[in-house]
Amino acid sequence: SGPETVSPTGQATGEDPARSAQSGAYLTTAQGVRLYESDHSLKAGSRGPVLLQDHHLREKITHFDHERIPERVVHARGAAAHGVFRSYGTASRLTKAAFLGDDVETPVFVRFSTVLGSRGSADTVRDTRGFATKFYTEEGTFDLVGNNIPVFFIQDAVKFPDVIHAGKPHPDREIPQAQSAHDTFWDFVSLHTEATHHTLWNMSDRGIPRSFRMMEGFGVHTFRLVAQDGGTTLVKFHWKPRLGVHSLVWEEAQLVAGMDPDFHRRDLFDAIEAGAYPEWELGVQTFPDTPEQTFEGIDLLDPTKIVPEELAPVQPVGLLTLNANTKNFFAETEQVAFHPGHLVPGIDITDDPLLAGRLFSYLDTQISRLGGPNFAQLPINRPHAPVNDMLRDGMHQTAVHTGVAPYRPNSLDGGCPFLAGADTGAYIETPVQIPTSNKVREAPQSFGDHFGQPRLFWLSMTPTEREHIIAAYTFELSKCYEQAVKERALTVLANIDPVLCEGVAAGLGLPVPPATVPFADVRPSPALSQLGATWPLD
Ligand code: HEM
Repeated sequence: SGPETVSPTGQATGEDPARSAQSGAYLTTAQGVRLYESDHSLKAGSRGPVLLQDHHLREKITHFDHERIPERVVHARGAAAHGVFRSYGTASRLTKAAFLGDDVETPVFVRFSTVLGSRGSADTVRDTRGFATKFYTEEGTFDLVGNNIPVFFIQDAVKFPDVIHAGKPHPDREIPQAQSAHDTFWDFVSLHTEATHHTLWNMSDRGIPRSFRMMEGFGVHTFRLVAQDGGTTLVKFHWKPRLGVHSLVWEEAQLVAGMDPDFHRRDLFDAIEAGAYPEWELGVQTFPDTPEQTFEGIDLLDPTKIVPEELAPVQPVGLLTLNANTKNFFAETEQVAFHPGHLVPGIDITDDPLLAGRLFSYLDTQISRLGGPNFAQLPINRPHAPVNDMLRDGMHQTAVHTGVAPYRPNSLDGGCPFLAGADTGAYIETPVQIPTSNKVREAPQSFGDHFGQPRLFWLSMTPTEREHIIAAYTFELSKCYEQAVKERALTVLANIDPVLCEGVAAGLGLPVPPATVPFADVRPSPALSQLGATWPLD
């Protein structure tokens, strides 16, 4: 056997490095036959017709014709890097997850993205940013598939196609690229007012980050940590950037989108190339795992709500360092497949209805995006733990499975192999009690308040940040053609705060509508403006 290529995740791919780096002694066809010439098609005479029998020509062009795979249905535009996660051990009394044990180092791959733009869109548009991390742990792969905004637009995954259809370019004219500057987006978020909180974060400076290196990340949903003794704790995951949180101002974002549409991608690559490795602390907010799954009156299953950090401080559990750039964008950034259901023992889900839909959606979409069910075999997606599954065949199968009995128990391939017991590292779902109830299609009452936390966010802003928010709403709403949409959007703002509504109404030259719900009695949270602050876990 010849020399082997090492995959992005450090695993041997069985490929010849000369071939994969087009630097071997001879150029060959895909079948390994040496070529003597490659710049001319085979013709009947130098001015005659090209011959169909030219296999090299047909093979080269056919392969080129199929080079593209579908872009992600959302988060199509991204940039990624490799790194390492070193745990402090501070979470080890909360979770048996080995990678969160004392001083454990785990290789990671992190992909940042915008949500709505297509693969070739500009980096500095106003949008949410994805922050997805693949931890290649010794117990299997754990993916933390988060965003740079701690809340989401909707409370139930059944509306995900709707909110994305509203935000993506219009089906008739395919404009605009960036989020929000159009009628359908504002129509949706003013009719589905649970989107108010996320939209307000988008319209704040958080919607135009200075750099991926200067963004927070959030797991958004509440997760459940499971300790060695079976004890459980509800948590929200946070990434805190060592460089602090910084944003562009709108004029900068617009100029940069024109002058260097790859600004964030370049910034990440150049920083790592220069040895200025970006770092984030992973932290958790912890909540007692009570049957109600609420904390200080906040429903922990509602992904449109945060828990203010003054009520539940973020406690650091480890450090992420991105220290290596990708070598091949397609093989790594494009082919990586994250999934919120990639969990390891010690980390479990909760009944957040948005998370439930995500658990279905990612695998489903990746089967079509990555051409079949075997994408876990792609180098970037291979676990660093041994894989011994009974999945067989299918499109793009590259494993050569042996044996005849991929089922268990069996009496042919050595009997009854490998089922781990409860104490041997198996993933065991937490035996959470399911509430007995009738089947219903409805949200709980505790999901009902759509304006209290937006008001909290608005009141915690500095005067400059408020000016930016008013300017952002004014700019984006001014792009709507429909007067009724603008007016309904203003009513939403009236329900958040009169100053916000008046500022935007003045900018749009429209009357100020009355609020339709009483203002929530909220206390501005000082912790929201103390970005980067963390508290020890004890
Ligand atoms: C992709 C985050 C909600 C469906 C992504 C990515 C991120 C992300 C970061 C990009 C992954 C990458 O870099 O490859 C989130 C967060 C959500 C959320 C934080 C809410 C808290 C949803 C929901 C659905 C959904 C509710 C569907 C029901 C998808 C799909 C992709 C995606 C289909 C493309 C995956 C692929 O092609 O590989 N999401 N998402 N997301 N998300 Fe979500």
